[in-house]
Amino acid sequence: MEWGMKNRLSRLIQKDGKALFLPIDHGYFQGPTHCLEKPGETIKPIYEYADAVMCTRGVLRNCVNPAIEKPIIMRVSGAVSVVGEDLANESIVTSIQEILRLNASAVSMSVFVGSKYENKSLSNLSKLVDECEEYGIPVMAVSAVGKELEKREARYLALAARISAEIGARVVKTYFCENFHKVVEGCPVPVVIAGGPKTETQKEVFDFVYSGMQAGAIGVNLGRNIWQTEYPVASIKAIRAIIHEGYTSQEADDLYNQVIAGKA
Ligand code: R5P
Repeated sequence: MEWGMKNRLSRLIQKDGKALFLPIDHGYFQGPTHCLEKPGETIKPIYEYADAVMCTRGVLRNCVNPAIEKPIIMRVSGAVSVVGEDLANESIVTSIQEILRLNASAVSMSVFVGSKYENKSLSNLSKLVDECEEYGIPVMAVSAVGKELEKREARYLALAARISAEIGARVVKTYFCENFHKVVEGCPVPVVIAGGPKTETQKEVFDFVYSGMQAGAIGVNLGRNIWQTEYPVASIKAIRAIIHEGYTSQEADDLYNQVIAGKA
């Protein structure tokens, strides 16, 4: 592996081999998402607990302080919306020059395995990997999104993750599911777990993050279940403790409650 690629990956994935990515890219197809109306304000109290921040170039330029010390994972697919015809019909919307100019440590794009636009999104992934590898930029595939999530089971998620890795993604993001170890074991690159829509309790998040880590994930790419919650700082601190300090979900929940009570 080239020095540049190694260096970028080591900024994202910490010395313990684990990672907490904080995505705030939801506006690229959802517009002003709840609690993300002003992304710069949303991340202010929490980004210090993340290992990387994921966003589009527009949010990066306009809402993120260029002095930020965290590496940036730039979302580079889009050109669709929640009111459009099909979310899977994405294009690559950011050039390699922009990726380099904005000093991204990695890029991310969605792949829609099993959708009408499967071939388009996988071809986009292959072209992006070709361009980014040339400059030592890792590509993270955001696999299993949108309607495909109805098939949130190990067989489907393993298929989408494996195909993304085969095409050249350096990291794959997918959802937690029953038998998640099958997804991780079938994927030759590191897997991070997405959060999905806000859960009823924070303990549910700690449970699936803990189980996912036990099954071999290296960390999370988790947004709404941090910044849409009542206590974003407590949430991210507890999730960080599971990822980097080996906390169980119960220990994380205890920490969460202590932070809320001002005791940690
Ligand atoms: C979707 O808009 C993005 O790919 C998010 O980065 C991803 O879904 C993770 O965010 P969340 O934990 O909110 O699902």
